[in-house]
Amino acid sequence: MAHWVRVASADEIPAGEGKYVEVDGEPIALFHVDGQFYAISDTCTHEEASLSEGELDGEIVECALHGARFNVRTGQVVSLPAVVNVQTYPVRVVGNDVEVEI
Ligand code: FES
Repeated sequence: MAHWVRVASADEIPAGEGKYVEVDGEPIALFHVDGQFYAISDTCTHEEASLSEGELDGEIVECALHGARFNVRTGQVVSLPAVVNVQTYPVRVVGNDVEVEI
């Protein structure tokens, strides 16, 4: 059953940056874009690199390994070599806590 899990403090992730978190064994990349937080699967759908280590430009993250790009808000792949979207997870901020629903 889905439930909310605290994964970070809002003030520990500066805007324009990401963080790797694990929730119930799921590797998740959490990103801060202009005051909003987004969570996607951390595993690139191309060859399984960690997307939290990628470069964030607006709401687009570029995989550090081969440069595939994904929209962190929608999970949509926006450039090759990946062709499969990444899973997204609902995020909410409660006080200073960032929570992911999984
Ligand atoms: S592993 Fe991410 S683009 Fe290849």
